[in-house]
Amino acid sequence: MTTEQIIEKTTEYIKQKFENEGTGHDWFHIDRVRRTAMLLAIEEGADTQIVELAALLHDVDDWKFNGGDVDSGPETAKNWILELGGSEALAETIKAIVNEVTFKGAGVETKTSTLEAAVVQDADRLDALGAIGIARAFAYGGSRSRLLWDPEEEYEQHESFDAYKKNTSSTIAHFHEKLLLLKDRMQTVAGKQLAEERHNFMVTYLDQFEREWWGDNR
Ligand code: ADP
Ligand code: NI
Repeated sequence: MTTEQIIEKTTEYIKQKFENEGTGHDWFHIDRVRRTAMLLAIEEGADTQIVELAALLHDVDDWKFNGGDVDSGPETAKNWILELGGSEALAETIKAIVNEVTFKGAGVETKTSTLEAAVVQDADRLDALGAIGIARAFAYGGSRSRLLWDPEEEYEQHESFDAYKKNTSSTIAHFHEKLLLLKDRMQTVAGKQLAEERHNFMVTYLDQFEREWWGDNR
């Protein structure tokens, strides 16, 4: 099978697998990340086929939803490509990217080791920013019955940069504890630029939110 055919088959597989996902990792998230990653890949001169395949597989069997097994996603991605008749080299390359993009635990500042991994990671982070990022954050908060905001709470500075601790903070807290920090963690020039725009939009949004909260929405 050619890489192009592998990408086609993988699209079908992931689309079907993520169709009924309610965790903020639905098919449309994957599709947006794929699209953004391709744009970044072209601007950064990364291998577009590798990037597309890795973007499609980046949340496959994610450890946050499989009981915490961090090796399962990368392994699943590798086996899927081998099953389709992809080369060992291709399978290993994708496995390595999925591994670097998905792993976020234990205080790791997630620097990636290849341009392709950096591109996919940036694209995934970009989907947590801007208008879409705001929507996803409140959707997630709602799914956990979180308050929109608690003006009395203190924002935690998580050393681990890990949003999956069992915290009970509000959704607005998530902006201060994670989302507003993302723009400084982008790895590609093109990603940084997009992140800057989406970041500024969120800052404007938060400003308006607080003014409306206190009854001063001029
Ligand atoms: P991905 O695995 O695609 O990088 P995450 O699993 O980190 O994304 O998060 C999925 C979405 O849910 C993101 O938009 C993120 O901002 C949001 N999210 C994660 N944790 C929280 C939280 N504690 N409060 C609000 N939104 C959250
Ligand atoms: Ni993702």
